[in-house]
Amino acid sequence: MSANTTVIEVTGERPEENYDVLVGTNLLGELTGMLGTGVSRVLVIHPRALRSTGDVVRADLEANGFTAVAAEIPDAEEGKRVEVAAFCWQVMGQNDFTRSDAIVAVGGGAVTDLAGFVAATWLRGVKVVHIPTTLLGMVDAAVGGKTGINTAEGKNLVGAFHPPAGVIADLYTLKTLPKNELVAGMAEAVKCGFIADPVILDLIEQDPEAATDPDSPVLREIVERTIQVKADIVSNDLKESGARHFLNYGHTLAHAIELAERYQWRHGAAVSVGLVYAAELARSMGKIDDALADRHRSILELLGLPTQYRGDRWQTLLEGIRRDKKNRGDQLRFIILEGLAKPAVLTVPDTGILFAAYQEIAAEEA
Ligand SMILES: NC(=O)c1ccc[n+]([C@@H]2O[C@H](COP(=O)([O-])OP(=O)(O)OC[C@H]3O[C@@H](n4cnc5c(N)ncnc54)[C@H](O)[C@@H]3O)[C@@H](O)[C@H]2O)c1
Repeated sequence: MSANTTVIEVTGERPEENYDVLVGTNLLGELTGMLGTGVSRVLVIHPRALRSTGDVVRADLEANGFTAVAAEIPDAEEGKRVEVAAFCWQVMGQNDFTRSDAIVAVGGGAVTDLAGFVAATWLRGVKVVHIPTTLLGMVDAAVGGKTGINTAEGKNLVGAFHPPAGVIADLYTLKTLPKNELVAGMAEAVKCGFIADPVILDLIEQDPEAATDPDSPVLREIVERTIQVKADIVSNDLKESGARHFLNYGHTLAHAIELAERYQWRHGAAVSVGLVYAAELARSMGKIDDALADRHRSILELLGLPTQYRGDRWQTLLEGIRRDKKNRGDQLRFIILEGLAKPAVLTVPDTGILFAAYQEIAAEEA
Protein backbone atom coordinates (compact mmCIF):
# COMPACT_ATOMS: atom_id res chain seq x y z
CA MET A 1 0.00 0.00 0.00
CA SER A 2 1.28 3.47 -0.88
CA ALA A 3 2.59 5.51 2.06
CA ASN A 4 0.22 8.21 0.89
CA THR A 5 -2.90 6.13 1.52
CA THR A 6 -4.95 6.80 4.64
CA VAL A 7 -6.57 3.82 6.35
CA ILE A 8 -9.66 4.34 8.49
CA GLU A 9 -10.80 1.30 10.43
CA VAL A 10 -14.43 0.44 11.04
CA THR A 11 -15.22 -2.09 13.75
CA GLY A 12 -18.17 -4.41 13.22
CA GLU A 13 -20.25 -6.36 15.72
CA ARG A 14 -18.02 -9.38 15.13
CA PRO A 15 -14.30 -9.37 14.27
CA GLU A 16 -15.00 -10.73 10.77
CA GLU A 17 -17.14 -7.64 10.15
CA ASN A 18 -14.24 -5.21 10.67
CA TYR A 19 -13.15 -3.41 7.53
CA ASP A 20 -10.92 -0.62 6.25
CA VAL A 21 -11.83 2.51 4.34
CA LEU A 22 -8.89 3.60 2.19
CA VAL A 23 -8.58 7.23 1.11
CA GLY A 24 -6.07 8.42 -1.48
CA THR A 25 -5.44 8.32 -5.22
CA ASN A 26 -4.61 5.47 -7.62
CA LEU A 27 -5.98 2.90 -5.19
CA LEU A 28 -7.19 0.27 -7.66
CA GLY A 29 -4.21 -1.91 -6.75
CA GLU A 30 -5.80 -2.38 -3.30
CA LEU A 31 -8.95 -4.05 -4.61
CA THR A 32 -7.75 -7.65 -4.84
CA GLY A 33 -6.36 -7.53 -1.31
CA MET A 34 -9.72 -6.31 -0.02
CA LEU A 35 -11.56 -9.14 -1.74
CA GLY A 36 -9.39 -11.57 0.23
CA THR A 37 -8.99 -15.25 -0.44
CA GLY A 38 -11.50 -17.70 -1.86
CA VAL A 39 -13.15 -15.32 -4.33
CA SER A 40 -13.14 -16.41 -7.94
CA ARG A 41 -16.04 -14.52 -9.62
CA VAL A 42 -16.70 -10.82 -9.14
CA LEU A 43 -19.79 -8.91 -10.25
CA VAL A 44 -18.87 -5.30 -11.02
CA ILE A 45 -22.02 -3.16 -10.67
CA HIS A 46 -21.87 0.33 -12.16
CA PRO A 47 -24.23 2.82 -13.79
CA ARG A 48 -24.07 3.62 -17.49
CA ALA A 49 -22.47 6.98 -16.70
CA LEU A 50 -19.47 5.17 -15.16
CA ARG A 51 -19.00 2.50 -17.80
CA SER A 52 -15.34 3.35 -18.47
CA THR A 53 -14.47 3.23 -14.75
CA GLY A 54 -16.31 -0.07 -14.47
CA ASP A 55 -14.32 -1.41 -17.45
CA VAL A 56 -11.03 -0.41 -15.81
CA VAL A 57 -12.02 -2.18 -12.58
CA ARG A 58 -13.07 -5.30 -14.49
CA ALA A 59 -9.83 -5.36 -16.53
CA ASP A 60 -7.81 -5.08 -13.32
CA LEU A 61 -9.69 -7.99 -11.77
CA GLU A 62 -9.24 -10.13 -14.90
CA ALA A 63 -5.53 -9.32 -14.92
CA ASN A 64 -5.38 -10.60 -11.35
CA GLY A 65 -6.98 -13.91 -12.21
CA PHE A 66 -10.63 -13.27 -11.28
CA THR A 67 -13.59 -13.83 -13.57
CA ALA A 68 -15.14 -10.37 -13.70
CA VAL A 69 -18.72 -9.93 -14.89
CA ALA A 70 -20.33 -6.53 -15.54
CA ALA A 71 -23.80 -5.50 -14.43
CA GLU A 72 -24.59 -2.11 -15.91
CA ILE A 73 -27.56 -0.54 -14.16
CA PRO A 74 -29.71 2.57 -14.62
CA ASP A 75 -28.45 5.85 -13.22
CA ALA A 76 -29.09 7.29 -9.75
CA GLU A 77 -32.40 6.38 -8.02
CA GLU A 78 -33.58 4.49 -11.12
CA GLY A 79 -30.99 1.90 -10.14
CA LYS A 80 -32.41 1.41 -6.64
CA ARG A 81 -35.37 -0.68 -7.76
CA VAL A 82 -36.20 -4.32 -7.08
CA GLU A 83 -36.22 -4.99 -10.84
CA VAL A 84 -32.59 -3.89 -10.96
CA ALA A 85 -31.71 -6.10 -7.99
CA ALA A 86 -33.45 -8.98 -9.80
CA PHE A 87 -31.37 -8.27 -12.91
CA CYS A 88 -28.18 -8.51 -10.80
CA TRP A 89 -29.37 -11.77 -9.19
CA GLN A 90 -30.07 -13.08 -12.69
CA VAL A 91 -26.56 -12.24 -13.92
CA MET A 92 -25.08 -13.89 -10.82
CA GLY A 93 -27.21 -16.99 -11.28
CA GLN A 94 -26.33 -17.30 -14.95
CA ASN A 95 -22.65 -17.01 -14.09
CA ASP A 96 -22.77 -19.57 -11.25
CA PHE A 97 -21.87 -17.18 -8.44
CA THR A 98 -21.32 -19.07 -5.18
CA ARG A 99 -21.24 -17.94 -1.54
CA SER A 100 -17.52 -17.35 -1.78
CA ASP A 101 -17.78 -14.97 -4.76
CA ALA A 102 -18.11 -11.22 -4.47
CA ILE A 103 -19.53 -7.93 -5.70
CA VAL A 104 -17.75 -4.65 -6.37
CA ALA A 105 -19.87 -1.47 -6.49
CA VAL A 106 -18.60 1.41 -8.60
CA GLY A 107 -20.70 4.57 -8.30
CA GLY A 108 -22.49 6.99 -6.02
CA GLY A 109 -24.66 6.19 -3.03
CA ALA A 110 -27.43 4.82 -5.22
CA VAL A 111 -25.08 2.15 -6.59
CA THR A 112 -23.49 1.22 -3.26
CA ASP A 113 -26.98 0.94 -1.68
CA LEU A 114 -28.23 -1.34 -4.48
CA ALA A 115 -25.04 -3.39 -4.73
CA GLY A 116 -24.88 -3.78 -0.96
CA PHE A 117 -28.47 -5.02 -0.96
CA VAL A 118 -27.75 -7.52 -3.75
CA ALA A 119 -24.68 -8.71 -1.81
CA ALA A 120 -26.72 -9.03 1.41
CA THR A 121 -29.33 -11.18 -0.29
CA TRP A 122 -27.42 -13.38 -2.79
CA LEU A 123 -27.14 -16.78 -1.11
CA ARG A 124 -27.84 -14.94 2.20
CA GLY A 125 -24.77 -12.80 1.91
CA VAL A 126 -21.61 -12.45 -0.14
CA LYS A 127 -18.71 -10.00 0.15
CA VAL A 128 -19.05 -6.53 -1.28
CA VAL A 129 -16.33 -3.92 -1.80
CA HIS A 130 -17.49 -0.37 -2.41
CA ILE A 131 -15.68 2.02 -4.72
CA PRO A 132 -17.69 5.21 -4.14
CA THR A 133 -17.35 7.83 -6.87
CA THR A 134 -19.31 10.70 -5.30
CA LEU A 135 -18.41 12.72 -2.23
CA LEU A 136 -21.65 11.63 -0.56
CA GLY A 137 -20.84 8.02 -1.37
CA MET A 138 -17.36 8.32 0.17
CA VAL A 139 -18.24 10.10 3.38
CA ASP A 140 -21.65 8.57 4.00
CA ALA A 141 -23.37 5.91 1.89
CA ALA A 142 -20.46 3.47 1.45
CA VAL A 143 -19.53 3.48 5.14
CA GLY A 144 -21.67 1.94 7.85
CA GLY A 145 -23.22 -1.14 6.27
CA LYS A 146 -26.71 0.18 5.52
CA THR A 147 -28.02 -1.03 2.16
CA GLY A 148 -31.35 -0.54 0.51
CA ILE A 149 -33.69 -0.09 -2.39
CA ASN A 150 -36.80 2.03 -2.93
CA THR A 151 -40.38 0.88 -3.48
CA ALA A 152 -43.26 2.73 -5.09
CA GLU A 153 -44.31 3.74 -1.56
CA GLY A 154 -41.08 5.40 -0.56
CA LYS A 155 -37.30 5.57 -0.40
CA ASN A 156 -35.13 2.98 1.31
CA LEU A 157 -38.10 0.97 2.55
CA VAL A 158 -36.41 -2.37 1.83
CA GLY A 159 -32.88 -3.16 2.87
CA ALA A 160 -30.46 -4.91 5.16
CA PHE A 161 -27.44 -4.19 7.30
CA HIS A 162 -24.52 -5.70 5.39
CA PRO A 163 -21.08 -4.24 6.15
CA PRO A 164 -18.69 -4.19 3.19
CA ALA A 165 -15.40 -6.10 3.10
CA GLY A 166 -13.76 -2.75 2.42
CA VAL A 167 -14.20 0.69 0.88
CA ILE A 168 -11.88 2.36 -1.62
CA ALA A 169 -12.35 6.13 -1.70
CA ASP A 170 -10.18 7.18 -4.62
CA LEU A 171 -10.27 10.97 -4.78
CA TYR A 172 -9.31 10.80 -8.43
CA THR A 173 -12.86 9.68 -9.26
CA LEU A 174 -14.25 13.01 -7.99
CA LYS A 175 -12.63 14.89 -10.86
CA THR A 176 -15.50 14.08 -13.22
CA LEU A 177 -18.23 14.61 -10.64
CA PRO A 178 -20.41 17.66 -11.45
CA LYS A 179 -19.71 20.49 -9.00
CA ASN A 180 -23.29 20.59 -7.70
CA GLU A 181 -23.05 16.91 -6.74
CA LEU A 182 -19.76 17.53 -4.95
CA VAL A 183 -21.12 20.54 -3.09
CA ALA A 184 -24.24 18.59 -2.08
CA GLY A 185 -21.99 15.97 -0.50
CA MET A 186 -20.31 18.71 1.53
CA ALA A 187 -23.50 19.12 3.58
CA GLU A 188 -22.73 15.77 5.24
CA ALA A 189 -19.19 16.94 5.97
CA VAL A 190 -20.56 20.13 7.56
CA LYS A 191 -22.94 17.99 9.62
CA CYS A 192 -20.03 15.90 10.92
CA GLY A 193 -18.15 19.12 11.67
CA PHE A 194 -20.95 20.37 13.90
CA ILE A 195 -21.69 17.09 15.68
CA ALA A 196 -18.14 15.84 16.23
CA ASP A 197 -15.13 17.40 14.47
CA PRO A 198 -15.11 21.23 14.23
CA VAL A 199 -11.78 21.18 12.34
CA ILE A 200 -13.89 20.27 9.29
CA LEU A 201 -15.70 23.59 9.71
CA ASP A 202 -12.43 25.51 10.10
CA LEU A 203 -11.06 23.98 6.90
CA ILE A 204 -14.13 24.96 4.88
CA GLU A 205 -14.26 28.47 6.30
CA GLN A 206 -10.55 29.09 5.68
CA ASP A 207 -10.75 28.12 2.01
CA PRO A 208 -14.13 27.12 0.56
CA GLU A 209 -12.64 26.88 -2.95
CA ALA A 210 -10.00 24.36 -1.90
CA ALA A 211 -12.59 22.52 0.16
CA THR A 212 -14.46 21.63 -3.03
CA ASP A 213 -11.43 21.05 -5.29
CA PRO A 214 -10.73 17.32 -5.84
CA ASP A 215 -7.03 18.12 -6.39
CA SER A 216 -6.66 19.93 -3.09
CA PRO A 217 -5.26 18.40 0.11
CA VAL A 218 -7.96 20.39 1.90
CA LEU A 219 -10.74 18.33 0.34
CA ARG A 220 -8.81 15.19 1.12
CA GLU A 221 -8.51 16.14 4.78
CA ILE A 222 -12.22 16.93 4.94
CA VAL A 223 -13.05 13.54 3.38
CA GLU A 224 -10.79 11.72 5.84
CA ARG A 225 -12.12 13.56 8.87
CA THR A 226 -15.75 13.08 7.83
CA ILE A 227 -15.26 9.35 7.24
CA GLN A 228 -13.51 9.12 10.62
CA VAL A 229 -16.53 10.70 12.34
CA LYS A 230 -18.90 8.23 10.69
CA ALA A 231 -16.53 5.31 11.29
CA ASP A 232 -16.26 6.13 15.00
CA ILE A 233 -20.01 6.38 15.39
CA VAL A 234 -20.99 3.27 13.42
CA SER A 235 -18.20 1.23 14.98
CA ASN A 236 -19.92 1.64 18.29
CA ASP A 237 -23.47 1.41 17.03
CA LEU A 238 -23.89 -0.67 13.90
CA LYS A 239 -27.65 -1.00 14.10
CA GLU A 240 -28.70 2.49 15.07
CA SER A 241 -29.65 2.09 18.69
CA GLY A 242 -27.69 4.98 20.20
CA ALA A 243 -25.02 7.38 18.95
CA ARG A 244 -25.85 6.63 15.34
CA HIS A 245 -28.92 8.81 15.73
CA PHE A 246 -26.59 11.82 15.89
CA LEU A 247 -25.79 11.24 12.22
CA ASN A 248 -29.38 12.29 11.58
CA TYR A 249 -28.55 15.87 12.58
CA GLY A 250 -30.36 18.08 10.06
CA HIS A 251 -32.06 15.08 8.48
CA THR A 252 -35.52 15.25 10.04
CA LEU A 253 -36.53 18.37 8.17
CA ALA A 254 -34.38 17.30 5.19
CA HIS A 255 -36.41 14.11 4.70
CA ALA A 256 -39.63 16.15 4.81
CA ILE A 257 -38.27 18.58 2.20
CA GLU A 258 -37.19 15.71 -0.04
CA LEU A 259 -40.67 14.20 0.24
CA ALA A 260 -42.34 17.57 -0.45
CA GLU A 261 -40.10 18.03 -3.49
CA ARG A 262 -40.78 14.46 -4.69
CA TYR A 263 -37.07 13.76 -4.47
CA GLN A 264 -36.19 16.34 -7.09
CA TRP A 265 -33.92 18.17 -4.60
CA ARG A 266 -30.41 16.82 -4.00
CA HIS A 267 -30.23 15.17 -0.58
CA GLY A 268 -27.36 17.46 0.42
CA ALA A 269 -29.35 20.59 -0.42
CA ALA A 270 -32.21 19.38 1.80
CA VAL A 271 -29.74 18.50 4.59
CA SER A 272 -28.30 22.00 4.34
CA VAL A 273 -31.69 23.59 5.05
CA GLY A 274 -32.29 20.97 7.75
CA LEU A 275 -29.04 21.86 9.51
CA VAL A 276 -29.92 25.55 9.66
CA TYR A 277 -33.37 24.62 10.94
CA ALA A 278 -31.98 22.38 13.69
CA ALA A 279 -29.68 25.23 14.73
CA GLU A 280 -32.62 27.66 14.89
CA LEU A 281 -34.54 25.16 16.98
CA ALA A 282 -31.64 24.87 19.44
CA ARG A 283 -31.19 28.66 19.51
CA SER A 284 -34.89 29.22 20.22
CA MET A 285 -34.66 26.85 23.18
CA GLY A 286 -31.54 28.54 24.53
CA LYS A 287 -29.39 25.46 23.90
CA ILE A 288 -26.82 27.21 21.69
CA ASP A 289 -25.66 30.80 21.41
CA ASP A 290 -26.15 33.11 18.44
CA ALA A 291 -22.60 32.66 17.15
CA LEU A 292 -22.96 28.89 16.84
CA ALA A 293 -26.42 29.14 15.28
CA ASP A 294 -25.27 31.78 12.78
CA ARG A 295 -22.22 29.70 11.90
CA HIS A 296 -24.52 27.06 10.38
CA ARG A 297 -26.00 29.53 7.93
CA SER A 298 -22.73 31.24 7.06
CA ILE A 299 -20.72 28.09 6.33
CA LEU A 300 -23.45 26.55 4.19
CA GLU A 301 -23.83 29.82 2.27
CA LEU A 302 -20.06 29.87 1.71
CA LEU A 303 -20.47 26.55 -0.06
CA GLY A 304 -23.43 27.82 -2.09
CA LEU A 305 -25.91 25.49 -0.38
CA PRO A 306 -29.50 26.59 0.32
CA THR A 307 -30.44 27.74 3.82
CA GLN A 308 -34.11 28.63 3.32
CA TYR A 309 -37.26 26.87 2.22
CA ARG A 310 -40.72 27.96 1.11
CA GLY A 311 -42.63 29.79 3.81
CA ASP A 312 -45.98 28.44 2.57
CA ARG A 313 -44.98 24.79 3.04
CA TRP A 314 -44.90 24.32 6.82
CA GLN A 315 -48.00 22.11 7.06
CA THR A 316 -46.72 19.84 4.30
CA LEU A 317 -43.35 19.60 6.01
CA LEU A 318 -44.90 18.87 9.41
CA GLU A 319 -46.90 16.02 7.86
CA GLY A 320 -43.69 14.72 6.31
CA ILE A 321 -41.87 14.93 9.64
CA ARG A 322 -44.69 13.04 11.39
CA ARG A 323 -44.72 10.39 8.66
CA ASP A 324 -40.95 9.96 8.76
CA LYS A 325 -41.02 9.52 12.52
CA LYS A 326 -43.97 7.11 12.33
CA ASN A 327 -42.11 5.03 9.75
CA ARG A 328 -39.27 4.77 12.23
CA GLY A 329 -41.54 4.10 15.19
CA ASP A 330 -40.16 7.25 16.80
CA GLN A 331 -41.66 10.02 18.88
CA LEU A 332 -41.33 13.52 17.46
CA ARG A 333 -37.66 14.00 18.22
CA PHE A 334 -34.91 16.09 16.69
CA ILE A 335 -31.18 15.93 16.98
CA ILE A 336 -29.97 19.33 18.14
CA LEU A 337 -26.71 20.73 19.49
CA GLU A 338 -26.16 21.74 23.08
CA GLY A 339 -22.82 23.27 22.06
CA LEU A 340 -20.23 22.72 19.36
CA ALA A 341 -19.69 18.96 18.91
CA LYS A 342 -22.28 18.27 21.62
CA PRO A 343 -25.24 16.61 19.89
CA ALA A 344 -28.29 15.64 21.90
CA VAL A 345 -31.78 14.27 21.37
CA LEU A 346 -34.64 16.74 21.79
CA THR A 347 -38.07 15.27 22.43
CA VAL A 348 -40.37 17.92 21.03
CA PRO A 349 -42.71 19.25 23.75
CA ASP A 350 -45.16 20.84 21.29
CA THR A 351 -45.16 21.58 17.60
CA GLY A 352 -45.46 25.32 18.30
CA ILE A 353 -41.70 25.53 18.84
CA LEU A 354 -41.11 23.73 15.56
CA PHE A 355 -43.26 26.27 13.75
CA ALA A 356 -41.56 29.22 15.47
CA ALA A 357 -38.11 27.96 14.43
CA TYR A 358 -39.39 27.47 10.89
CA GLN A 359 -40.10 31.19 10.62
CA GLU A 360 -36.33 31.73 10.81
CA ILE A 361 -35.68 29.73 7.64
CA ALA A 362 -38.87 30.49 5.72
CA ALA A 363 -38.32 32.17 2.36
CA GLU A 364 -40.91 34.75 1.37
CA GLU A 365 -41.41 33.92 -2.27
CA ALA A 366 -43.00 30.60 -3.19
N1 LIG B 1 -26.53 3.62 2.99
C1 LIG B 1 -26.37 4.79 3.57
O1 LIG B 1 -25.96 4.88 4.74
C2 LIG B 1 -26.66 6.02 2.79
C3 LIG B 1 -26.30 7.27 3.31
C4 LIG B 1 -26.53 8.40 2.55
C5 LIG B 1 -27.14 8.29 1.31
N2 LIG B 1 -27.49 7.06 0.84
C6 LIG B 1 -28.12 6.93 -0.49
O2 LIG B 1 -27.22 7.45 -1.46
C7 LIG B 1 -27.96 7.89 -2.59
C8 LIG B 1 -27.42 9.22 -3.06
O3 LIG B 1 -26.07 9.08 -3.37
P1 LIG B 1 -25.31 10.13 -4.32
O4 LIG B 1 -25.56 11.49 -3.85
O5 LIG B 1 -23.93 9.63 -4.43
O6 LIG B 1 -26.12 10.03 -5.66
P2 LIG B 1 -26.09 9.06 -6.94
O7 LIG B 1 -25.51 7.73 -6.61
O8 LIG B 1 -27.43 9.11 -7.51
O9 LIG B 1 -25.05 9.80 -7.90
C9 LIG B 1 -25.33 11.11 -8.32
C10 LIG B 1 -25.07 11.26 -9.82
O10 LIG B 1 -23.67 11.38 -10.06
C11 LIG B 1 -23.27 10.48 -11.09
N3 LIG B 1 -21.89 10.11 -10.77
C12 LIG B 1 -21.46 9.34 -9.77
N4 LIG B 1 -20.14 9.36 -9.69
C13 LIG B 1 -19.69 10.15 -10.71
C14 LIG B 1 -18.41 10.56 -11.14
N5 LIG B 1 -17.32 10.21 -10.49
N6 LIG B 1 -18.34 11.38 -12.21
C15 LIG B 1 -19.46 11.78 -12.84
N7 LIG B 1 -20.71 11.44 -12.47
C16 LIG B 1 -20.82 10.61 -11.41
C17 LIG B 1 -24.25 9.35 -10.97
O11 LIG B 1 -24.29 8.61 -12.15
C18 LIG B 1 -25.55 10.10 -10.66
O12 LIG B 1 -26.13 10.61 -11.82
C19 LIG B 1 -29.41 7.93 -2.17
O13 LIG B 1 -30.10 6.86 -2.77
C20 LIG B 1 -29.36 7.76 -0.66
O14 LIG B 1 -30.51 7.10 -0.16
C21 LIG B 1 -27.26 5.95 1.55
